[in-house]
Amino acid sequence: MKNIVVVGAGTMGNGIAHVFALKGYSVHLIDSNAAALEKAIVQIEKNVDRQVNKGVITNNDKANALGNITTFTSIEKGVINADLAIEAVTENEEVKKNIFNQLDEYTNPACILASNTSSISITTLGNATKRPHKVIGMHFMNPVPVMKLVEIINGAQTDEATLKTIVALTEAIDKIPCVVKDAPGFIANRILMPMINEAIYAFAEGISDAATIDQIMKLGMAHPMGPLQLADYIGLDVCKNILEIMHIGFNNDKYAPCPLLVDMVASGKLGLKTGAGFYSYA
Ligand code: 3HC
Repeated sequence: MKNIVVVGAGTMGNGIAHVFALKGYSVHLIDSNAAALEKAIVQIEKNVDRQVNKGVITNNDKANALGNITTFTSIEKGVINADLAIEAVTENEEVKKNIFNQLDEYTNPACILASNTSSISITTLGNATKRPHKVIGMHFMNPVPVMKLVEIINGAQTDEATLKTIVALTEAIDKIPCVVKDAPGFIANRILMPMINEAIYAFAEGISDAATIDQIMKLGMAHPMGPLQLADYIGLDVCKNILEIMHIGFNNDKYAPCPLLVDMVASGKLGLKTGAGFYSYA
């Protein structure tokens, strides 16, 4: 594996590109929005600088990493010679299926197609291609350069060779693969999101304020962030979306997003990225 394609230049896409480029892989970062690509490169530089300032990597490593990334606005042009394409676009099944369709059409048949989806069925995405045995989930965690986990999701038709290759690649970039079956929310979000949702219920019922709820989970459970701060960090729209996918996927009301979460998203309070959520980031 030498040539990695990342489709989607948002927070997750630029984090994934950052990690592979730093490990010496050639990375093609693709986004139809040229401004998003520019923003992603600025963000990657900033994040790589953090690592330089901490002495984790050298200025030379930084230059090599940035030199390993090329940006494209077209999938057709960007996927030439790709060994692996990782889709990290918006969490919408139709949008993702469309990307998988294009990846299937333009990549060479040996290329593995992965999705960074946080909850959408890998089997469904695989079925949008003519190579479902080569389709797999690689669920990275935010911030990607820091978090060790990659949740690897086997679709119903993912074959053993694809799984082995992706597990080995995950280890090669210094991450730890944890392999799970395809089910709504997989494992990470199936456990994380109900906790966040419950914290929102407790906040909505006035049991305590946001800072105290978070402090309880930080001090009592050794979580690095409390659930409300983490919800702001992930994006309240993303949390709501994942809960809805589990609500529908399991047909179980216990996963329904808390009405306060629904209201906050409707009013444009999406957390850190909009400057307001459970906390203000002005
Ligand atoms: N790029 C590179 N380095 C970064 C970074 C980034 N984007 N963000 C943070 N860092 C580094 C910092 O430089 C620092 O390095 P050091 O340990 O060498 O000093 C280290 O990470 C810690 O950062 P900070 O000192 O700025 O701040 P904190 O100590 O508060 O840590 C945090 C920040 C790592 C984000 C920590 O609060 C944390 O682990 N939070 C929980 C994150 C989490 O749960 N992520 C999963 C979200 S769920 C998900 O992604 C799935 C999706 O499907 C929803």
